[in-house]
Amino acid sequence: MLADSSQPRLAIAASSFQTLDLDLALELDLPIITKNPRAYDFLLRYTAQGLGLEPVDGRSGAVRVDFAAGKARHRRVFGGGKGQQIAKAVGVQGSVRPSVLDLTAGLGGDAFVLAGLGCQLNLAERQPVVRALLADGLARGELDIDVGEVVAAMVLQKGDALSTMASWQGVAPQVIYLDPMFPHTGKSAQVKKEMALFRQLVGNDKGADALLTPALALASHRVVVKRPRIAPDLDQHKPTYRLEGKVNRFDIYVNQSFQR
Ligand SMILES: C[S@@+](CC[C@H](N)C(=O)[O-])C[C@H]1O[C@@H](n2cnc3c(N)ncnc32)[C@H](O)[C@@H]1O
Repeated sequence: MLADSSQPRLAIAASSFQTLDLDLALELDLPIITKNPRAYDFLLRYTAQGLGLEPVDGRSGAVRVDFAAGKARHRRVFGGGKGQQIAKAVGVQGSVRPSVLDLTAGLGGDAFVLAGLGCQLNLAERQPVVRALLADGLARGELDIDVGEVVAAMVLQKGDALSTMASWQGVAPQVIYLDPMFPHTGKSAQVKKEMALFRQLVGNDKGADALLTPALALASHRVVVKRPRIAPDLDQHKPTYRLEGKVNRFDIYVNQSFQR
């Protein structure tokens, strides 16, 4: 899986969930290890809390997707609902709850916020380890009494962004949402553990520019691009308008207005 030798070395730590270990090893083409973890940079491990990815040097804890707890729960309960910029950016307003195709799903944080507001989500994620963490979080989330219904509105598609768009069948998504990685400019010590992990596994999403034209051709109503405030426009394409936040901005490319 990891063709580039600068990529971190990964393995699956054998757990008591043997079938899950085996399925994951096949899916990601990674070894299952019972000893010598120091030969690797990161271990994937199943525990009762689900699938986690942990740095072998112990400098931070495991990253896992948990829609029912932590940051996701906090934002759902206290996060500002329809007033959030992301909600305005995709067009949540009055009774409008657009269908959204999130083509750079990552660990599903933004998608979960939108699903929590009542949008139907389709997701694509191309990095296989990130995808496995997301798939595990979705499977557990769907069984949760508090967030099960919200998580059930998030459907992870098989391919990457381009193949998902190319093979799209039926009614077009009203909104396509893009949040590609962007070269980090701040102090690395301030990078949160999730972001630090992303930077190592995903790097910078080269090729993100190529997503905009097909997205504009597929989305019936708008394409929304999340960017760091200082980043240039995706594909040097000026949006219809922007919503600016402290750190990020949302660039909105309008194809058609929503009927309220
Ligand atoms: C900044 S993260 C997204 C974070 C996400 N919005 C969240 O809230 O968790 C960008 C993600 O997009 C994925 N990605 C980049 N290009 C992609 C593509 N062409 N197809 C699918 N996923 C892609 C990367 O692997 C990475 O996980």
